[in-house]
Amino acid sequence: MHLSQAVRHMTPSMTIGMDDRARALRRQGVDVVSFAAGEPDFDTPEAIKQAAIRAIREGFTKYTSPAGIPELRQAVAERLRRDYGADYAPDEIVITAGGKPALYFALRALCEAGDEVLVPVPAWVSYIEQVRLAGARPVAVPTDGGDGWQPRTDRIVPLLGPRTRAIIVNSPHNPTGTVYTRETLAALVEVSQRHGVYLLSDEIYESMVYDGARHVCLPGAWPEARDRIVLLNSMSKTYAMTGWRLGYVAAPRPLADGIAALQGHLSGNPNSIAQKAALSALAERVELGEMVAEYDRRRRYVVERLNSLSGVACAMPRGAFYAFPDVRGVLARPGGPTTSAALAEYLLEQAHVALVPGEAFEAPGFLRLSYATSMARIEQGLDRLAQALEPLAARV
Ligand SMILES: Cc1ncc(COP(=O)(O)O)c(C=O)c1O
Repeated sequence: MHLSQAVRHMTPSMTIGMDDRARALRRQGVDVVSFAAGEPDFDTPEAIKQAAIRAIREGFTKYTSPAGIPELRQAVAERLRRDYGADYAPDEIVITAGGKPALYFALRALCEAGDEVLVPVPAWVSYIEQVRLAGARPVAVPTDGGDGWQPRTDRIVPLLGPRTRAIIVNSPHNPTGTVYTRETLAALVEVSQRHGVYLLSDEIYESMVYDGARHVCLPGAWPEARDRIVLLNSMSKTYAMTGWRLGYVAAPRPLADGIAALQGHLSGNPNSIAQKAALSALAERVELGEMVAEYDRRRRYVVERLNSLSGVACAMPRGAFYAFPDVRGVLARPGGPTTSAALAEYLLEQAHVALVPGEAFEAPGFLRLSYATSMARIEQGLDRLAQALEPLAARV
């Protein structure tokens, strides 16, 4: 069968792939501890569920405007102003079916075929694929653990060319858990202004920052640069609403209109019931403190345990819900797995622990471990990891 080049050249998401494999093993009766999914283990807060049930009962089950219901666009604009001082009119907000379509529509609305989009790597799996699907060319900007994975403008500037359209900004960051410093963000804004490129700021992990850090919302902190900033966000992680599929874009009016028009033709509109649910989350200011405190507790436990493993080094992440240990010390040992992909495979087979190898994020030599799973499961998974890595260490 003929399949388009775009589809043939697409790499299926390795994070979803690993989680699917864990699920398949579970169906065979194997008890797998999965650190693979980037999905909160918490339930969607009750008030949000109730709002959805009310919406169904009231018959709010029809098409909505392609850009989303006006009340929700208004509520998003209000929360951006209240929480970050970011100034958007409701008609500069487009509600989408999650962060993924928000990103795709933004790329599609901005890029011509052959344009370039700079992607700091390691990077979340879908950036590179989505840039390609939008007809543009992803250009990797290497970042280092030694720099705390902060993108450096001395690496970005030489990669800028006449076709550079945008730079992806993702803080807090998936997969490293890094939080970009204000200096990093200021430098990115300066580059964007000087070279006339857009910053696509994916702030989906905004609520998960630790050690007293405060999230810096790009258009809130640099309002003078807002014409070059596209803010991408979603309810998925913040409100444990991954399955509801609800996100949004905040962008200058012509771009917001373009994105709404794309959405109108591609998916019609975001789910009407999920929009009412999201509205209640924002209007009732659903409390997130307990969830974040629990992530923080797990984060510290996970990093401490990882660092106690021979051959493993893990920096303390300051955001999101991922640890990103460097396992090159394990891979250097004779007779064992020599790549992080092979190590992830070994851990799944031998220890029944699912992790995502760094290869998925263009960062071989690392593993991504999501601690969005219960403390009991985390303890169990790390015990298994320690046990499975022991024979590898003994080979030294
Ligand atoms: C960095 C980042 N951006 C965007 C998304 C997309 O989230 P969703 O489409 O579920 O809203 C994810 C999900 O894993 C992510 O990690």
